[in-house]
Order: sequence, then structure tokens, then C-alpha cells
Amino acid sequence: AEPADIVAFVEDLLSEKKKSLRGKRLIVTAGATIEAIDPVRFISNHSTGKMGYAIAEALARRGAEVVLISGRTSLPTPTGVRRIDVLSAQEMYEASVREFATAVMCAAVADYTPEEVAPTKLKKGDGELTIRLKRTHDIAAELGAHKAGRILVGFALETDHEEANAEGKLQRKNFDFIVLNSLRDAGAGFGVDTNKVTLIDRAGREELPLLSKAETAEKIADKIESILK
Ligand code: CTP
Repeated sequence: AEPADIVAFVEDLLSEKKKSLRGKRLIVTAGATIEAIDPVRFISNHSTGKMGYAIAEALARRGAEVVLISGRTSLPTPTGVRRIDVLSAQEMYEASVREFATAVMCAAVADYTPEEVAPTKLKKGDGELTIRLKRTHDIAAELGAHKAGRILVGFALETDHEEANAEGKLQRKNFDFIVLNSLRDAGAGFGVDTNKVTLIDRAGREELPLLSKAETAEKIADKIESILK
């Protein structure tokens, strides 16, 4: 076994936490999607997947069966997690519908994708180039419309009107709660190991302090667990 797996196993044996999510199946979407323009270029975003991977790990450590539907990242698969690699928003949508269960929608999904993917490398011309984009599936909203007793947790990364935007998404996508990140907070955002989030549900909001992404993941897992009970 790899050293990291041995460490995870021993930590697990020593941990005080019971297997409080044993018998529960959850999906976590994480990372950035990649929308091909041609065989060489793509449209994507800065998500590294760290937050989603930390959540998958926290849930698995509590005994849940976790399916991690992952866009492009360079992170190792957390111990005990089943990982499905996808590239585009369409592939992430199909995997999410197929695996649909209580879900944490952490991925940074492209909202638009090129209308056509060029089969061969686009060559430059003298003038400007326009690429027409079409909408992708809003995976969270579509799962939210068919959730029937499943719990759905969303994320919102905002740069302005943070709380109003997050509350709008909570309602529109039928989330049980939403995790708001503001890019204005130091220590929150892409690639860093810390996060500062506010958990918002229909009853109110809970502002968490600056924590590591692993600690933030534990808080999110605590809240999921309390709803599942
Ligand atoms: N999401 C999704 N599928 C999409 C877009 C977003 O599942 N095509 C999910 C994200 O994983 C996140 C939540 O919806 O949990 C909010 O994502 P965000 O990008 O903040 O919201 P958008 O709906 O894209 O809204 P906007 O672009 O207007 O901010």
C-alpha cells in the first residue's frame, strides 16, 4: 500500500469519530470542466478541486460511500473514494445523473461551451476570430428539480453582492444549503489551502472563520450529517 493510504488507515483507526455516515451514498462534483475549442485549445477556469476533494475525503472518513465526479485536477484520489474522471460539462452532467444521490456540487462547471468543436486545429487568419458559445446543462439545477428526498448542497463563488447572489442560487437550484465563498476575502478562493465561507440555508446563515480547506470540509460534513439524521 502507498504510504498515504497507510497513514489514512491508521488515522482512521485512531480517530474518535464514529462511522457516522455508514450506509449513506453521496456524490461530490469537483474541479474545473474543460470545453474543447479544437483538438488543442479549450475554455476552462481556475478551480483546482481542492475543496471538493477535501469534502469527499471527510465524507469517506465517516464511512459514506463517496463517488467523486472530477473535472481536471492534479490531486490524488482520497482514500476510500470512487473517482470518475470527466472533461466537459456534458460528461459531468451525464455522470451526475447516472450516479445521482445526496450531492455536494463543488465543481466549477462551464456555463457555456463552443457551439461546434473544430475537428482539426484552427489556423490563424488576419482578422478577428469569433467563437459562438451555447449553454451547458446547469447540473445542480437539474438535480435540484428531481431531488425527491435527496440532500443537495451547492457552492457559490462570488465577487460582488455575495449574499444576495448565494440566496438566489439556494432558491433557484433547490439546495438544502449553499456554501458561499467571496473572492474578496483574503485566504479564500483558487488553489489556496484555506477558505472562509458562510453556510446559508432557509433558516439563516453561519459565518465560519478562516479555516483550512480540510477543516471547512469537516464543518460541511457536520451540517450534511445533521440534515441526514
Ligand atoms: N453548477 C452546476 N452546473 C452548472 C453551473 C453551476 O452544477 N452548469 C453548480 C456549481 O457546482 C455550484 C452552483 O451550481 O454548486 C453555483 O455555481 P455558480 O457557477 O456560482 O453559479 P451559476 O449558476 O453558474 O451562476 P452565475 O454564473 O450567474 O454566477
